[in-house]
This record gives sequence, structure tokens and C-alpha cells, in this order.
Amino acid sequence: MEETQEQKYLWWHEGIIYQIYPRSFQDSDNDGVGDLKGIISRLDYLKWMGITAVWISPIYPSPMADFGYDIADYRGIHPLFGTMEDFDELLNEVHQRGMKLILDLVPNHTSNQHPWFLESRSSKDNPKRDWYIWEDPKEDGSEPNNWLSVFGGSGWEWDEQTQQYYYHAFLVEQPDLNWRNPEVQQAMFDVMRFWLDKGVDGFRVDVMWHMIKDKHLRDNPPNPDYQEHMATYEKLVPAYSTDQPEIHEIVAKMRAVMDEYEERMMIGEIYLPVHRLVTYYGTDNNGAHLPFNFMLVNQDWNASTLSLHINEYEGALPPGGWPNWVIGNHDQPRITSRVGYSQAKVAAMLLLTLRGTPTMYYGDEIGMRDVPIPLDEVQDPQGLNMPDKDLSRDPARTPMQWDGSENAGFSEAKPWLRLPDNFRRVNVDVQREDPYSMLSFYRRLIQLRQQEPALHVGYYVPAPTKGTIISFQRIHKEQKFLVLLNLSHRPSLFRPEHASYAGKIVLATDPEREGRQVEKNISLSGDEGIIVRLN
Ligand code: GLC
Ligand code: MG
Repeated sequence: MEETQEQKYLWWHEGIIYQIYPRSFQDSDNDGVGDLKGIISRLDYLKWMGITAVWISPIYPSPMADFGYDIADYRGIHPLFGTMEDFDELLNEVHQRGMKLILDLVPNHTSNQHPWFLESRSSKDNPKRDWYIWEDPKEDGSEPNNWLSVFGGSGWEWDEQTQQYYYHAFLVEQPDLNWRNPEVQQAMFDVMRFWLDKGVDGFRVDVMWHMIKDKHLRDNPPNPDYQEHMATYEKLVPAYSTDQPEIHEIVAKMRAVMDEYEERMMIGEIYLPVHRLVTYYGTDNNGAHLPFNFMLVNQDWNASTLSLHINEYEGALPPGGWPNWVIGNHDQPRITSRVGYSQAKVAAMLLLTLRGTPTMYYGDEIGMRDVPIPLDEVQDPQGLNMPDKDLSRDPARTPMQWDGSENAGFSEAKPWLRLPDNFRRVNVDVQREDPYSMLSFYRRLIQLRQQEPALHVGYYVPAPTKGTIISFQRIHKEQKFLVLLNLSHRPSLFRPEHASYAGKIVLATDPEREGRQVEKNISLSGDEGIIVRLN
């Protein structure tokens, strides 16, 4: 369990990743949409906070049917976001500040406007026909199988001209590539090299577990746990359309491309249960460096459930597999809206003290909440396609709240999504000055974490207790920390089952507690988290 002497820690083990949704971070040309120059102008803020790596959601040319996750050119920059010169400048400015840049790579599907697809759909004997998943109808003319689209409706789209169906796991405008085709593989590996040659430090690979589908296209089985409020996609268990054994060969090949370069890193977006998720580290770690772990996003916010899952994850990691944690992203409700404002600091402390690389989502550091978007302003296709299910992702994608000026300092034009009414109170400017704010808390937490090897690379040992507290130690050589997090709004007593701890509180959700000595039974207020440096 103790880390071996030889373990070498790289930037992506020790660092903190910050996700930017580029449409919403900072607008520089006042068209109401964020852009690359905008991001550049805010890098000093990220550096000030202690962020070490930035991941930006797609910035490539795209018809924006899925806001950039439908790519029409893998080697360009959408004019909305700027130019390739702007990108080179961004990369340079990030590196100048000693930070890393991670791009979004979307290899599962292209836009239906991508030249590859335009060719592929042009005729049955086009050389690129087999680059996508084309199938004949069943004898009665119906779809090749029962697979559903994540965004609602069937996963198959009929092409009148060539009299076949093509498969799209997401929108009709996002046809899936055929990863069984070696030409497709090579084309995408070349895309990776294009950006790696430029000096990009890594990729976050979109829907990695979708990339290969069952060869025989067997029907997916019904989901016995389906309920009406869920997305229609959940009616079936995607047993044959996702997480197929062959995916690991593909991921290993992608990893080999990464390994042609120094210290590059690949994250996989994978929504699977722990025992499936950890297989994406690959055999002898020849897979993804970090298969995204969404446990803190998906599990109930409850101390015993989460403690169990944290331990299950720690126990399931393969030797040499480095853990990671996420509390929010552009597809999920914001943490403050999910667990409440009073628990959001506890969540931050959990994210930043567990063993493994944390990924933060822009705006969470100031406690931004999901912003209610009136029906006639909804933009997200997931929301528009299933209007009765409340699945729009817009509320978590609203403009960053920088200051109290018009449009929160995001833009001088009307932003593409509206701001909340309270942005004059909830913004970076106000919170920077307030030592009790969410932002000040995040910053101090990040600083402590990055100063203390025990907190960024130390090993993890549970400190079991009953009740509403998550409790664990982080240990590196002689340095030991005890982390206690009360997930309840009511006070709770930490009564360790097999040990006794004594030390000094070095960081707390209520800073007034800092500096206090504690020992044996430690009482916590509701919504309180503390970090104790053990004697
Ligand atoms: C991923 C992205 C999501 C997108 C989908 C299709 O889940 O995070 O935003 O809609 O893939 O590309
Ligand atoms: Mg702009």
C-alpha cells in the first residue's frame, strides 16, 4: 500500500485539472460567446488559484449541433473561438505560466458535415463508405437493431439516397465512425499527432466506452430499472453498443501514440461501474492514464455510501493505476445545485483531499449554481429533444461570473446563455476580497494540497467511523493528515472505531476552527469539514 521509493510522479499525478467550457468562460470580441483570446486573458486568474492544467471542451470547426462535440474539421479552430494563431498563443501562454493544456478529442463520431461523412454517404461504393456504420434495413424495412440514441429516439437514421441506415449514438448530426476500420484508426491517430506535435499536453477522450460496438449488432436487453422520468436511452441496457472487449485494443493503440511523445496524458470519459471502469487502465497500464471517475457525480451524497464506494475504487485500482476524481462537468448539474450551497465546501474538500488527480469545473470555485433557463431559451439538444424530462445541460453551462458589471464581465454583448439574477453578489471580484468566500476557500485548499506531498501523492487509509462523517488519512513518510467531512447539516461526532487521533486543525470550512488542537472524539458542526495535521 505504501508508495514505492521509485515511483516517479508526473504533472498529471500531482496536478489539478480545471475544465473550461470555452463558450462560457470569457468573450473577447463581444459576440456573446467565449473564445480563445478570452481564455488567454484569464490565465493569470487560474494561476493565482493554483490550477496546474487546463482542459478545454472542443474548439474545432463545427456546425454546433452539439456545441462543438460534432466536429467538421479535427485540425482547425472554429472562427467563433478564434484562429490557429490564437490557439498557438494560448498554448504558449499556458506553458509560459508553467501550466499544461489538455484538448478534447472526439473520436467516436464526427459531424454529418465532416468531409469524411459527406463522402461516405455519397454512394455505397465510395472508398469511405466503411468509415461509418452503415447497415441494410431488416426485411420489413425496419432498423437493423433496437439501439437507441443517448439524446432520444432511435440510434439509426435512414439515408434515402443510398437506402441504408447509419448509426449515431448521439444526434443524427453525429454519425459514429467505424473503429473496426484500420483507415479510421490511422486517420484519428494522425489527428492526435497533429496536436501533440504542436505541444498539447494531453487529451480528454470523449465517450471512450462507446467507440466500438458489437460486431453482430445484437439487440440491447431491456432495463428492468427504467422509470418514466429517465432519458429514453435508459430503456435498454447498452450491453452490445458500449464497453465491448475490443475497445481495449483501440485504447492501447491510442496510448501508444501518446507514448511517442514525452509526458503526454490521456483521460477517458467513461461512465461505467467501478469494476468495468478500471479495465480502461489497460493491461499493465497500457490504456488511459486517467479513466474519469464520476463516482462523486453519480452516487448519493451520503457518508456511508460514498465511503464504501471510495474504498471500493481504491481497492479495485490496478497496480500503478492512478486514481482521479470529478465533481462536475458540462453534462451534469453543478455540485452546488446537487448537494446545496452549504455542502459545496465539503464537496470541494473531498475532491481536493482524496488520493488522485482532481478535475474541477469552471465556476464551481465561486459556488455558481445551475441557472434556470426559460423554455424558449433552451439551447442544448438533449433538453430540446426530451422537453418533458428536464435534461437540458444549459443550466450548468452559463457564463462565468467575473464581476458586478453588465453581463458579469463575461462579455459586453448579450451572452449566449443568460446569467443568474444574483451575479452581482456571486462573482470572482467580490469573492477574492472575502476571506470566507467559496473562492478563498478553494484557493487555500489548493495551496495546502499542493504544498503537502501527503495530500497530493500520499497514500490513502480509511479511518472508519459510524454516522454521517467521511473520514480518512493521507500519509507520506512522517507526514499524516486526517480528513473529516460531515455530509449532514446537523452536528456529528467522529468516534474512530479502532484508533485514536490527535493533532491540529490546519484547514476548515469555518476558518475560525483553524489552529485548534483536537484529539480522540472530535465533534463537527453540520456541513463542516476539517483537515487535521496529526502529531
Ligand atoms: C460527451 C460530452 C457531451 C457530448 C457527448 C457527445 O458525453 O461530454 O457533452 O454531448 O459526448 O459527443
Ligand atoms: Mg467571442
